[in-house]
Amino acid sequence: MEKRKLGKTDMQVSALGFGGSEIGYQSVAPSTVKKMLNSALDAGVNVIDTAECYVSSEELIGQAVAGRRKEYYLFTKCGHFAGWGQPDWRPPSLLKSIERSLRRLKTDCVDLIQLHSCSEEELKKGDVIEALKRARERGHTRYIGYSGDGRDALYAIECGEFDTLQTSVSLADQEALELTLPLARERNIGVIAKRPIANAAWKSGDRKPADSYAHPYWERLRKLNYDFLHGELSESIAVALRFTLSVPGVHTAIVGTTKPERIHENAAILEAGPLPKDLFEKIRSRWREVADDAWVGET
Ligand SMILES: NC(=O)c1ccc[n+]([C@@H]2O[C@H](COP(=O)([O-])OP(=O)(O)OC[C@H]3O[C@@H](n4cnc5c(N)ncnc54)[C@H](OP(=O)(O)O)[C@@H]3O)[C@@H](O)[C@H]2O)c1
Repeated sequence: MEKRKLGKTDMQVSALGFGGSEIGYQSVAPSTVKKMLNSALDAGVNVIDTAECYVSSEELIGQAVAGRRKEYYLFTKCGHFAGWGQPDWRPPSLLKSIERSLRRLKTDCVDLIQLHSCSEEELKKGDVIEALKRARERGHTRYIGYSGDGRDALYAIECGEFDTLQTSVSLADQEALELTLPLARERNIGVIAKRPIANAAWKSGDRKPADSYAHPYWERLRKLNYDFLHGELSESIAVALRFTLSVPGVHTAIVGTTKPERIHENAAILEAGPLPKDLFEKIRSRWREVADDAWVGET
């Protein structure tokens, strides 16, 4: 599988990465996660992304592949020790969260700790960044990053403290292409595209997806109404993933899934390489035509 150097880090990451939120939120069986992650590593995927608050995700990953730790780069996040929606940015809580992540992931050191979508205001106070640096000094992480969107993400790049940015990039979420990615490229920041296939929000057709998490993209995509969304699902997923990986500055796209067969389906998509320039530009110009100011990067 194609590998790309993750910005200024020493990591050569696979273009397709594994997003770990669904396995936790949807309580996927440990045996299924084991099968899924082992086949991902066998297929050449070497990025596993998770977070402190994705329910059982960290434990599931630790149980499934800790024995193959040298074969993958492990990214997690901190800031929501007690669960999403209950942020706690105090340095002792961040450090406690990181130590808990290491235990759950059955490792002494992760490759990347990311601040999990804190505000620009919080970043400016500086304590959160100092806490991450302390974790790095303690040998708990090799690199530090920021995960989030919009002006918060822009400040995270500008402040010069982070090695990486994880941000939403997809055919239904293109704010980053103008707001943050040009500067990220200039500063040689590693970019991890989250929500890279827009939660596959169009797959339920005219019916709103059951999970409200996908509603903003479902609504946007109805307005964007790209013609290829009306064809075969496997082909539209392929266009979506190739679009994200063709965006200048993106190094890896961490697709989330609950199903082992997706690994090979998504890995196979990459064999076709970047999206043809004319289709890429069509998706960009349709976005410019339709997107309104409220279509900001979805956290
Ligand atoms: N603030 C943050 O830091 C933040 C926020 C959001 C996400 N993230 C990270 O980004 C990762 C990815 O985001 P995401 O999972 O929300 O969005 P996503 O990767 O764009 O979409 C995931 C959805 O796509 C479906 N899917 C995957 N491959 C498919 C295929 N070949 N055909 C049809 N459907 C397919 C999955 O369903 P199936 O289960 O049916 O495959 C899942 O519902 C997360 O896991 C997480 O690691 C971080």
